[in-house]
Amino acid sequence: MLPAVNHRPPFNITRASHIVLNVADVAKSRDFYVDIVGLVVTEQTADTCYLRGLSEACHHSLVLVQADSNAPICKRIGFRVFLEEDLDLAYQFFKEEGLPAEWAEVAHQGRTLHVSDPFGTKIELCAQMETRPRLYLERNLFKGAHAQRIDHFQIFSPNTYESCAFYSRLGFRNSEYLAHGERLLGAFMYRKGTCLDLAIVENDGPCMHHFAYIVPESHDIFTACDLAGIYGHAHEVERGPGRHGPGGMLFVYLRDPDGHRVELCDGHYQTIDIEIEPVRWDAASLSTSVRWGLPAEHRWYFEASRFEGAELIETANKPRPTTLETYIQNRLAKS
Ligand SMILES: [Fe+2]
Repeated sequence: MLPAVNHRPPFNITRASHIVLNVADVAKSRDFYVDIVGLVVTEQTADTCYLRGLSEACHHSLVLVQADSNAPICKRIGFRVFLEEDLDLAYQFFKEEGLPAEWAEVAHQGRTLHVSDPFGTKIELCAQMETRPRLYLERNLFKGAHAQRIDHFQIFSPNTYESCAFYSRLGFRNSEYLAHGERLLGAFMYRKGTCLDLAIVENDGPCMHHFAYIVPESHDIFTACDLAGIYGHAHEVERGPGRHGPGGMLFVYLRDPDGHRVELCDGHYQTIDIEIEPVRWDAASLSTSVRWGLPAEHRWYFEASRFEGAELIETANKPRPTTLETYIQNRLAKS
């Protein structure tokens, strides 16, 4: 069912690190991520805002870049590699695969490599970033949901198995996965030793479905909802609060002023030991994605941020989830 994992990958990715988003109004987006999510601004220029979580020592985990378009566009998702030499090995790997690989100058980061996966997902790799003090004890600075650190990305791929096979070659392992019959529809993959760094779900792609921050207390998730309502984003509390099946976290998903989706969740288990088998979930079972409450709206399943410059590839296997809309229709039909 799952592709083989290379436990000695050609270079060493250590974790999901940062994400770079185009936004229509940097100040408006900054306020959303500061006041509701609880990130802190490390630095702001005329057209770019760099933010980090309260326990993060690196310069940024979220970069907001002023853009002309209102469409939600993700420039890149960023992973860290362990050592500088891993960047050179990564460059060699992507070149040998015939995949894009270019060196880039990126502010506040060491040498940075821009690459794409086989379906065009835009990725940025670096081994070093400027550092700043961790702020987790500076409770006078806490705002919003007190987001501590970036945790993972979820992307759409037109072929989950092929994407999962690619990242398995790079040493990513599955903590859990979604399948229907013999078909792999969702892969929850990690490098850092918890459930997730990269989730891959089958749909038209490549797209960035969401990025997630860990909050320290479960009630911070409800604080985010309260603040979203107060600051005029009530209808952008898109899904939850709820409880995940895979990973088991309490969660909420919010759409930011441009429609980018951010998840807040309360952390999950360790996955380091080699003998532990990935957990299989039936993609067709409603209880896989809905532990209690109502299913997510159609838009949660199908809307996502496009990657800048990436061509959208239609999946041959469109998902058919039970959405809130179909769930209500079915309930009405039975009543
Ligand atoms: Fe997530």
